[in-house]
Amino acid sequence: MDRAGQYADLKVEIESIVAGETSMTARYASAACLIAEAFRPRFFWTGFYVVDPLKPFELVVGPYQGTLGCLRIPFCKGVCGIAAETCETIIVPDVEKFDGHIACDSKTRSEIVVPVFDADGQLAAVLDVDSEQLDAFDQVDRSGLEAICSRLLIA
Ligand code: SME
Repeated sequence: MDRAGQYADLKVEIESIVAGETSMTARYASAACLIAEAFRPRFFWTGFYVVDPLKPFELVVGPYQGTLGCLRIPFCKGVCGIAAETCETIIVPDVEKFDGHIACDSKTRSEIVVPVFDADGQLAAVLDVDSEQLDAFDQVDRSGLEAICSRLLIA
């Protein structure tokens, strides 16, 4: 199956599993697990950084799959912080060439970060995916992950 088809199936699977679930943590955890499983080993770190309600311009690590993640990332810092600030997806083909990249694990070579909005259209989190491969992410990943994130917090 082509990757676009895999993403379409994955979106349906995630939505059926979290349907009616009121816990956002349960939604993030289930999505992180299924996305990581679907694209292992290309995806070696898959997880969410959530906007801290007590510090609205700071991200705190949420559910993830992979090696130890950094705990907190301010807006405008790193790939996650800039994606949160701009509310835009960022694809990084080579993290060595991304000014201000935050290396939680030195094995990361490339990365994609996708914003997640709540039902009111407010930024709630970012999905961060790392790979040990250079240039591991393209527009198929972008569209697939954006589609999954667009519905993740919508009951
Ligand atoms: N590399 C990210 C930080 C999170 S780790 O990859 C899990 C960044 O630059 O924002």
